[in-house]
Amino acid sequence: MKIAVISDIHGNVLALEAVIADLKAEAPDLIVNLGDCVSGPLWPEETAAILREAGWPTVRGNHDRFVLEDPLEKLGPTDVFAAERLSQASIDWLQTTQPTIRLDDNIFLCHGTPDNDDRYLSEKVEGPKGHLPDEDTLLHELKGEKSPIVCCGHTHIPRLIQLQETGQIVLNPGSVGLPSYEDDHPLRHVMEAGSPHARYALMTNNSGAWNFQQKMLSYDWDAASRAALENGRPGWARALKHGFYGPLS
Ligand SMILES: [Fe+2]
Repeated sequence: MKIAVISDIHGNVLALEAVIADLKAEAPDLIVNLGDCVSGPLWPEETAAILREAGWPTVRGNHDRFVLEDPLEKLGPTDVFAAERLSQASIDWLQTTQPTIRLDDNIFLCHGTPDNDDRYLSEKVEGPKGHLPDEDTLLHELKGEKSPIVCCGHTHIPRLIQLQETGQIVLNPGSVGLPSYEDDHPLRHVMEAGSPHARYALMTNNSGAWNFQQKMLSYDWDAASRAALENGRPGWARALKHGFYGPLS
C-alpha cells in the first residue's frame, strides 16, 4: 500500500503540476489532500480545475473554509484573490471537502489539529519561529485521537514525529505551493521550509510497517514568484522564490 499525502497547494498550479508529474512515476495506490487548496495570489481556478478532475479525498483547510463561508469584506487578501476568481463549479467542488477524514482504522487526516483547522499540531509557536512541539503539547493537541497515523498540514513545514507514549505517528508533508509565510496568530511568526521546492510525502506499507518518504521537487518557482509580485504580494514573491520569508531578493 502506497499513499501520497499532499497539502497546502495554495493555488500554486505550477507546483501542483510538478507534484502530479512525480506522482505519475511513483504510482501510489491513493492520493490524499489535506487542504488549503486555492487561497493565494496565483492561480486558484486553474488549481481547482485540476483538483476537481482528480477527485482525491480532500480535507477542508482553514483557508478553504474562509473562502466558502466568509463574505468578501471579511476575507484577507490571500482569500479574496481566490474567492473572486473561482468558478461556480470550483466552489461546488470545494464544498465537497470534509473537516477531517478517517481513511481507515489506522489513518486519520486533518488540516490543523483533529478538532480545529486553524491550530498547529506539528509545530509550536512561542517566538518569531515555530519549532518541534514537545510530547505533552502533541498529546494535548491530538485531543484523544488514537489513530496510529495522523496526517496534518497547515504549518507548511514537513515533519515526521513519533510519540513516545503512544507510538503514534504525526506526519506533515509540508506544502506543495507555499514554502514560507508569516502569520499573526498566536503571535507574529514566520514559517520557513528553507528552500523553494514543492513538497509532499509518501507512506508505504508492504510488510506491516510503514515507511515514509519526503519528496522535494524543482519547478518554475521564479514564474510563481513573478506572478505573486504582479498580483501585489511581495512577501509571497520572496517566500516562493527562496523558501524563506525574510527580505532576500
Ligand atoms: Fe496553508
